[in-house]
Amino acid sequence: MGVQAQEIDVVVLGGGAAGLMCAVEAGWRGRHVVLLDHAERVGKKILISGGGRCNFTNIHCRAENFLSENPHFAKSALARFTPADIIALVEKHGIRYHEKTLGQLFCDRSAMDVVTMLERECMAAGVRVVTGTKVLSVKHDAKFVVETSAGTFRAKSVVVATGGLSIPKMGATGFGYSLAEQFGLRVAECRPALVPLVMSGEDASAWCDLTGLSAEVVAVAGTKRRRGSFREKMLVTHRGLSGPAILQVSSYWRAGEKIEIDLAPNVAVFAPMLAKNARRDASAAVNALRAVLPGRLAERWVVLHEPKDWTNASLATLEREVHEWHVSPAGTEGYAKAEVTAGGVDTAELDAKTMESRKVPGLYFIGEVVDVTGWLGGYNFQWAWASGVSAGQAV
Ligand code: FDA
Repeated sequence: MGVQAQEIDVVVLGGGAAGLMCAVEAGWRGRHVVLLDHAERVGKKILISGGGRCNFTNIHCRAENFLSENPHFAKSALARFTPADIIALVEKHGIRYHEKTLGQLFCDRSAMDVVTMLERECMAAGVRVVTGTKVLSVKHDAKFVVETSAGTFRAKSVVVATGGLSIPKMGATGFGYSLAEQFGLRVAECRPALVPLVMSGEDASAWCDLTGLSAEVVAVAGTKRRRGSFREKMLVTHRGLSGPAILQVSSYWRAGEKIEIDLAPNVAVFAPMLAKNARRDASAAVNALRAVLPGRLAERWVVLHEPKDWTNASLATLEREVHEWHVSPAGTEGYAKAEVTAGGVDTAELDAKTMESRKVPGLYFIGEVVDVTGWLGGYNFQWAWASGVSAGQAV
């Protein structure tokens, strides 16, 4: 081999939110930590997150805000490191933030503040950060041997924090999943999540020219066992539907299923048309719908749903249809547009308190690579921080 392997305590693979937090926690505990990333800098996804302002947590974060084959798995880590803990760290670094909506906390200035905070913490905790490094192999004998383009490391613990498959052009890889499989760990099937949905055929020609129009809706997807229902904005795009409501339900949707959209939550849109002497025709229906939808969306919806007559029964049907608009997405925009990857390393393989593999002691998985996927709104970073800290306290 020539050059001798460097003996350290912990190798963290991946310098995203989870890996950086884990390295900091382990470093403060006196562990000799090396954090490796193949990108030229750490925290690239943090930098583009939240429209450049990083929605770094959600003050309402609970295990119910996550999808996983085991919905209880995230509880322990989320209790160990809470939104109050990340807020304390952010405040320690003098970063100013604000609540935008629904408990979502964003930096006032820039996501760069969060990356700088983590880099400073790494430095203070004595973590060695090595970027632009290719991981060539990870083997296990008495210890882990991590062979990289920057040399070979022998460590008691390896933490895999290489993230998911979303946004491949930013360096996302399936490395973590392959490594899990190499060590005999099951990986739950991966799919793009928090992703725009695509329409095809008649739906596409009916709606996609209305690109840019938006409305507050309740969108519902999934089955009884896995059901997501969200009251947020929906946006029509040139390929289908997006906006927070749609991104949220995309995580619950599976190919072939319908999603249901209430275009007028809590409003009896056509009730005024039931009144004696009220006008009953398409333009009256459009007017009524305009109270809750942008004009062009209201017009299109009425054209496509216009009843043969305007009896009370027809108006009741129209009312029902506006609250139960069924859309059959042809697919999603895929990993290129997905904020996260759902699925991942099976939580049954991991200890919920430490994120350590049950089969391979010393091997840990944290962050997005694990089968824990948060809602839109700061939940995914909270999972990255919390799972990172849990492993950092154990390595
Ligand atoms: P992450 O992907 O951040 O980090 C993985 C690291 O591993 C990367 O640095 C990568 O370079 C490295 N790596 C990968 N393969 C490797 C290999 N083979 N060898 C070495 N290194 C390797 N969430 C949220 O809560 N609030 C928000 O505002 C947003 N906004 C947002 C916007 C956009 C556009 C996206 C795509 C995503 C978000 N998210 C979000 C989701 C959030 O970014 C995501 O959940 C976390 O970044 C996951 O953190 P991880 O550390 O697990 O992976």
